[in-house]
Amino acid sequence: MKIYNFDEIIDRRGTDCVKYDKLKVLFGNENLIPLWVADMDFKVGDFITEALKKHCEHGIFGYPMIPQDYFSTIKNWILSHHQWDIKEDWISFVSGVVKGIAYTVMHFTQPGDKIIIQPPVYHPFRIVPEMNHRKIVFNPLIEENGKYRMDLDGLQQILEKEDCKMLILSNPHNPVGITWDANTLKKLADICFKRNVLVISDEIHSDMALFGNKHIPFASVSEHAANNSITLMAPSKTFNIAGIVSSFAIIPNDKLRHNFFEFLHGGEFNQGNLFAYIATEAAYKHGEDWMKQMLNYIEENIFFIENYIRKNISEITVVRPEASFLIWLDCRKLDLSQKELSSLFVDKAGLALNDGEMFGIEGKGFMRMNVGCSRLILKKALENLRKAVSSRITTNKR
Ligand SMILES: Cc1ncc(COP(=O)(O)O)c(C=O)c1O
Repeated sequence: MKIYNFDEIIDRRGTDCVKYDKLKVLFGNENLIPLWVADMDFKVGDFITEALKKHCEHGIFGYPMIPQDYFSTIKNWILSHHQWDIKEDWISFVSGVVKGIAYTVMHFTQPGDKIIIQPPVYHPFRIVPEMNHRKIVFNPLIEENGKYRMDLDGLQQILEKEDCKMLILSNPHNPVGITWDANTLKKLADICFKRNVLVISDEIHSDMALFGNKHIPFASVSEHAANNSITLMAPSKTFNIAGIVSSFAIIPNDKLRHNFFEFLHGGEFNQGNLFAYIATEAAYKHGEDWMKQMLNYIEENIFFIENYIRKNISEITVVRPEASFLIWLDCRKLDLSQKELSSLFVDKAGLALNDGEMFGIEGKGFMRMNVGCSRLILKKALENLRKAVSSRITTNKR
């Protein structure tokens, strides 16, 4: 088995990548350690690069057709990794998961319609509907001592009062890293089915369950879930190919599928680019070893951060993710305003993280840290953070 080196530090500056090259614009300082936007600093597996290179060497980039194996490759991956037995014709390419969400919002709801999200949650769930003049209804997660769960009673109460058309689910949940259990998903499916609320299940982080946790596809839990949902997935987070744009939608219900796929077809929104097809097939056919080693490395990074913070920064608590490379840091004991907290990370520690409040007011006092990078970078980042926190405490005591 080939061993991949995730310790390697690769200079990404000057490659027009958002994570590094937008630091100055977004955080005011280009020299911060970037632990924010959700792509990883790891080199993509050679099985993907080689497949892309092979086509580049051919040198012709005319209109592609969907490769013969594209749908079966996706189907097989989902069956073997998530035990969800889908049919090939349930799948359609979509050019991005967020765009997929936008298409469902535009197609299945009208301006003024209400859409439910469960914050703290990935911010485009709010921004996309709002920019399309839909109203957001919030059903926040319940947090108790750093453990989060879905407020199903709260959801039921909301739906008794409000006519909502859609719920956008983050499964696994970004930013708090939950792999939702079958029971929660089943109850959610029943509630939404009964009230005719279409569930859009964003499962972009599905292949990255950690520490023995398991991803359960929403549509796989019951008839109600299958008949009333659109699932969006992609190899992009897992294989670090977000820039290639390689997502797809899965819809088991015939009526819903024909309806939505016709809309996608009408706008050619279902047409992938050449590289998306090549990278998706390469990832799902040859990426198993790379993925397993990457997930191991991420788990070790999380252990490393937990240990370091427990020993050295007692004011911060790590909410351990059950999936993916994003850690939710509970900084409430620092007792800072959100502005002060951000400034502690950016100005004092030299770190660019996602401010917890961008995921909703429930994220106040939290920061989201991307740990998809070499442990050497994390070590430096944590030392900076320790110094920044301790200098703040010393200053306060004076
Ligand atoms: C939950 C979730 N959905 C969607 C995306 C983005 O997907 P895409 O780049 O395919 O639009 C992200 C990226 O961070 C994410 O965390």
